[in-house]
Amino acid sequence: MARLMGKTCVVTGAAAGIGRETALAFLREGASVQALDHDARGLAQLQEQHPQLQVKALDVTDATAVTAFHAGLERLDVQVNCAGMVATGNLSACSMDDWRRSLDINMTSVYLMMGAALDLMLPLKSGSIVNIASVISSIGAAPDRFAYGATKAAVIGMTKSVARDYAHANIRCNAICPSAVETPSMTARIEAMADSEAARRAFNARQPLGRMGRPEEIAELAVYLASDLSGFMTGSQLVIDGGAKL
Ligand SMILES: NC(=O)c1ccc[n+]([C@@H]2O[C@H](COP(=O)([O-])OP(=O)(O)OC[C@H]3O[C@@H](n4cnc5c(N)ncnc54)[C@H](O)[C@@H]3O)[C@@H](O)[C@H]2O)c1
Repeated sequence: MARLMGKTCVVTGAAAGIGRETALAFLREGASVQALDHDARGLAQLQEQHPQLQVKALDVTDATAVTAFHAGLERLDVQVNCAGMVATGNLSACSMDDWRRSLDINMTSVYLMMGAALDLMLPLKSGSIVNIASVISSIGAAPDRFAYGATKAAVIGMTKSVARDYAHANIRCNAICPSAVETPSMTARIEAMADSEAARRAFNARQPLGRMGRPEEIAELAVYLASDLSGFMTGSQLVIDGGAKL
């Protein structure tokens, strides 16, 4: 069953991890997929392996580039805002640079991308926006994730606001809130720790299911939210965390 047949979809942060698997899952489900990332090399590798993907190197914090990109689209049915970054540290350790970069990449990008998407979705009176938030947000905390948690809470807030304001136009907006997912950036964070084996065990143990999530498992939820099967769902924050927040 091709659940996204005929849909034009945009996925940010598509060069790696959750965004990459989401772009590929959308492709398998019959969508026409635009994969965006500022990592041009990662995108080139992705397109070499999957020539049906359309890729575009773009910084999602650049308002001019975001507007120009959307101006070139004929239509837009689904947008997944996945690009993000993790600044580590508690409030005392959070520099202005970490704070501003976190706000720009995790929050302002979502504001810009959703604004541009709505301009295309409103005339269609239809659309689905999926924002990748986190359980580290308004849902809960983790050690040394001050700026990250603040920005992901804001993503949930923006999701609910857009869901409320654009439901009249049949535009849905939902947030996915994962706990630890084993992506290349997560692996790099673990391997950078002093005792990486102990750190990996601790990350796995945080989930009662005893392991981190897989990017494909998050992508599958994004497919559902992108598809018409979730047509009555908007403003939701879907926790997918192996039981971490039970
Ligand atoms: N991996 C996890 O454990 C986890 C858990 C909860 C939420 N998340 C969220 O899921 C999303 C994806 O995480 P991931 O682990 O797959 O991350 P990742 O670091 O592997 O991928 C993020 C992608 O975003 C891209 N990106 C960063 N800044 C950008 C910018 N300014 N413009 C365009 N692209 C940019 C990166 O190049 C990268 O390809 C993030 O928003 C992250 O916060 C991840």
